[in-house]
Amino acid sequence: MAKQNIFDNQIFFDGYKKIRENQASANIVFEMPALYSLLPDLSGKHILDLGCGFGEHCMDYIKKGAERIVGIDISEKMLEIAKTENSDPKITYLLMPMEDIDSIDEKFDIVISSLAIHYVEDFKGVLAKIHNLLNDGGIFVFSQEHPFSTCHSGGDRWTRDENGNKLHLNLKNYGVEKETESVWFVDNVKRYHRMFSTIVNDLIDAGFEIERMIEPIPDDEILAKYPDHKDLFHKPDFLLVKAGKR
Ligand SMILES: C[S@@+](CC[C@H](N)C(=O)[O-])C[C@H]1O[C@@H](n2cnc3c(N)ncnc32)[C@H](O)[C@@H]1O
Repeated sequence: MAKQNIFDNQIFFDGYKKIRENQASANIVFEMPALYSLLPDLSGKHILDLGCGFGEHCMDYIKKGAERIVGIDISEKMLEIAKTENSDPKITYLLMPMEDIDSIDEKFDIVISSLAIHYVEDFKGVLAKIHNLLNDGGIFVFSQEHPFSTCHSGGDRWTRDENGNKLHLNLKNYGVEKETESVWFVDNVKRYHRMFSTIVNDLIDAGFEIERMIEPIPDDEILAKYPDHKDLFHKPDFLLVKAGKR
């Protein structure tokens, strides 16, 4: 199966790096706090981070007491930053697509993946490999673009009023599971759309039990600071899942 490595595209990389530096980004305001709220006490834990990007999360896991981290990513450019800005003797970074993690000869207490799994076509195959790499009692925690986003391809995602304010989401082809292409810094950014039921059923079939799910929406405090995030009541940007190895 073809694997996309869009983060090594210079234009995409520069655009993505810029939004991640914005402290009001949805990643920082919603996704990271939700992801971290799903994690147990990390003291002494061995963790595998799939699609670790700049390695910021890996450093956070060390600060939270983790004993060993393996961070893997398909992008050389992302790992270059991880190795220069977020290195630690307890972290090993590997250039590897997550589809190939069966080549890792090590077991983990926790596998985490933040906003990377929607770039993977073979979700079932990767889930089976994650299950194999987890110790008994291990957990898999991941975030992905919300299925109401991954189904979108082409056209305006929103119906707007005459001033451009978002009125409601234009949901199209939610039930068509396939590779979708969107424009994000560059044309043809590929993601894989899976319905909610497919995500849940694939996890169950791979031997996981769902412990918790989060679709982050703003509370009053966040709305007061970032009023534009009110649109998340129409469509959450992210889906987060915590699943335990059965
Ligand atoms: C949106 S970034 C998130 C980075 C990091 N997890 C974070 O939240 O800061 C997605 C990352 O997934 C990586 N990625 C995409 N497809 C991948 C694959 N098949 N295997 C491993 N990494 C992949 C990209 O190169 C990129 O670094």
